[in-house]
Order: sequence, then structure tokens, then C-alpha cells
Amino acid sequence: MKIFRTIEEQQNYSKNEKCENIKIALVPTMGFLHEGHLSLIDKAKEHADKIIVSIFVNPTQFGEGEDYKDYPRDERKDLEVLREKNVDAVFIPEVSEMYPEGFRTFCEVGELSNKYCGESRPAHFRGVTTVVLKLFNITKPDIAVFGEKDYQQYIIIKKMTEDLNLPIEIIPSPIIREGDGLALSSRNIYLEKEERIEATVIYESLVMARKMIDEGEYEVNLLKGKMNELIKSKKHARIDYIEFVDSRTLEKVEKVENPTRILVGVWIGKARLIDNMEIKP
Ligand code: PAJ
Repeated sequence: MKIFRTIEEQQNYSKNEKCENIKIALVPTMGFLHEGHLSLIDKAKEHADKIIVSIFVNPTQFGEGEDYKDYPRDERKDLEVLREKNVDAVFIPEVSEMYPEGFRTFCEVGELSNKYCGESRPAHFRGVTTVVLKLFNITKPDIAVFGEKDYQQYIIIKKMTEDLNLPIEIIPSPIIREGDGLALSSRNIYLEKEERIEATVIYESLVMARKMIDEGEYEVNLLKGKMNELIKSKKHARIDYIEFVDSRTLEKVEKVENPTRILVGVWIGKARLIDNMEIKP
């Protein structure tokens, strides 16, 4: 497994592979890898010959007072796991390599970036799209895989790729969960014991909504109210947002009539967790 720490090395590798018509997949991550990340690698293998994983805790997507400094990191274990997974190359740059003195350019995907997660994290998606665009230019993939766990992120990256005519196919991959339903996340490590138990309420609220919809309840206000009630019954939970949106456009809906995503952001103690579920009425 190749490990590249400079942009030049990574670009040279990708250029050479492309000369030989080899299909490259990129799986971008911030490291501290778990089974959710690994499932993206499996998905990538279905579509490409060579797999590049990037590991970079991207400072521009963290707001002031957020957890950039505390974000969990374990480079040695990550590299070990990726080696076992037979990944071909890992791009793992320092911050100064990606954002040298004098860096000025950002990429933004309009109003899609300002709602839901973007409302409580104003510069977040601008940081995500900027770093992902840089990673695309550095690794030159034919395809890139993104988890549906971060559904808004996936839709925004897809839009950026379309709008800027990037010759890259964006492939979604399903959410991987713990046995009790909690979506895997590097941030779950922040949860104290009691909070970890309560955190399952996020998935439970989604399952409850789906059940109500299956039984014929399509009024979003009512569904949201019930989810609200359930989540609020937990001592450590504080709701950031619950929204029902059109699965393709992320526009809010008032009735569940077409394919809909329920998006949820909830603080459990000091961890801000997100989850979502697809509803096909
Ligand atoms: P990170 O949170 O490390 O996630 C990397 C990728 O793993 C994302 O596509 C995310 O959706 C996916 N992922 C995380 N948990 C998952 C789960 N439980 N099931 C399925 N997929 C899961 O997302 C980022 O990093 C960053 O914003 C990044 C895109 C790398 C840009 O910095």
C-alpha cells in the first residue's frame, strides 16, 4: 500500500495510473476509521480497479468553538486497517500541504449549504466542498464514494460535480449502524455511558416515523411533533433539527407523498450526531 503525504507524489501516482487506463476510486475520510468507512471501500471496489483513501481532518469545515482540536485521530491504526483492506494508496497530507500560507480560494454550492446542518454550522459545507474539490484534483478519481450517513453532504457534492462538469461519478453508500441502530460515527467516542444508551433514540425516532407513515400518517407537522416528543424524553438529548425533505432536491415537504428523506441532527451531551432515513410512500 502506497502512502503519500505530498500533493506532488499523489498526483504523479494518479497520472501514471490514468495513463494505463486504470479506473480509480477515491474514498475521502477524516480518519479514525470504522466499519462505516470500510463499507465505502467495499462499494468502491465494485466500481474501480484502484482504491485511494484520503485521511485529512479538514480545518476549514470546522467552525469556531467546534471540535477540530479534539476530533479523534489514530493514524497508525487507520493505516493498519487500510492495509488489511488491500487499499492501493492512502493520501494523508498535513494541513500546511493542503492550505499553505496565502491560500484564498473557496468553492460554495449556494443555498443547499445554508440549511439543516449548514444552519448551525455556517461555513461547514463551504469547507467540505473546497477540500473535496482539492482532493478530486489531487487524486484524479473516476468515481468517488460518499456515505448516505451524511446525506446533505452527498447531495451537495453531487451538485458541485454536476455544476462544475467534473468527470467523476459520485456513488452513495448505505448507512452502517451498531446493533442497536445508532449510526456509526467517529464522534460516538464522545458519548458517556448513559449518553450512549440514550443516543439510540435518534434511530428509534426515525423508525417510529416510518411506521406511522406505513400506517397512513403523511402530515409532516404531526410526524415531526411525535419525533420531537420522543427525542426530548431523553435527559441528554437536545434537538438541532428534524426535517422532512425531497430526497433529490432537499426542499422541505409538508406531506410525505414522494420519496422523502427524514434528516435529524441531535446533540447528545457534547456530541452532535446526525442520522437520516429514506421513505418511499
Ligand atoms: P468522515 O466523517 O470521516 O466520513 C467519511 C465518509 O464516511 C463520508 O462519506 C461519510 O458519509 C461516510 N460515513 C461515515 N459514517 C458512516 C456510516 N455509519 N455509514 C456509512 N457511511 C459513513 O465526511 C467526512 O469525513 C468529511 O466531510 C469529508 C467528506 C472527508 C471531507 O472532509
